[in-house]
Amino acid sequence: MVLSQDQRVWKKELLISREEIHSKVEELAREISSDYQGKDLVLIGVLNGVVFFFADLVRALTIPVKMDFVRAASYGSAMSSSGEIRFTKDVEIEIRGKPVIVVEDIIDTGLTLVNIMEKIKQREPESLKVCVLIDKTERREVDVPIDYRGFHVPKGFLVGYGLDFNEEYRYLPDIFVLKEARGADA
Ligand code: IMP
Ligand code: MG
Repeated sequence: MVLSQDQRVWKKELLISREEIHSKVEELAREISSDYQGKDLVLIGVLNGVVFFFADLVRALTIPVKMDFVRAASYGSAMSSSGEIRFTKDVEIEIRGKPVIVVEDIIDTGLTLVNIMEKIKQREPESLKVCVLIDKTERREVDVPIDYRGFHVPKGFLVGYGLDFNEEYRYLPDIFVLKEARGADA
């Protein structure tokens, strides 16, 4: 499978299988369920990339939770972000005085999440933690405290299981790394 964009051709290589994703999600759900037993936990998912991770995580929890979503429009390019954001969908349920976990698909520079956290903090939750499926560290620019981490992937552009490249590939059940195809590869 190849995709042309600005003259370059990409191929995708399997990085994390659906089975690996499944057991990691169960592990994270066990941890969260035990940490928030008896609490009125609110999960806030960051759209759109988080959809499958969020749905799988919530259904693997053994505690009741409330859920809402934010959608942050960033002003970055397709493969990176400037970090400057505005919410095109904001939190709508009451989170004041409640324990909140923000759920993200992937953290790269960290700028998006730091901005999202700032905005959510203004609503004065009792606590605010972060759960991320993929912690991609090589380009990190700001310190983001990650409380629940799925996979550590140093670098690479990932697609599938909600992650997109120009809105392509989100539907794939596994996670792939996009590589530039050269010569005979292409
Ligand atoms: P950050 O602000 O650099 O941490 O960027 C985070 C956002 O950029 C994520 O929520 C994704 O939307 C996007 N992003 C960063 N890396 C990837 C990737 O490897 N695949 C798909 N989207 C990515
Ligand atoms: Mg995202």
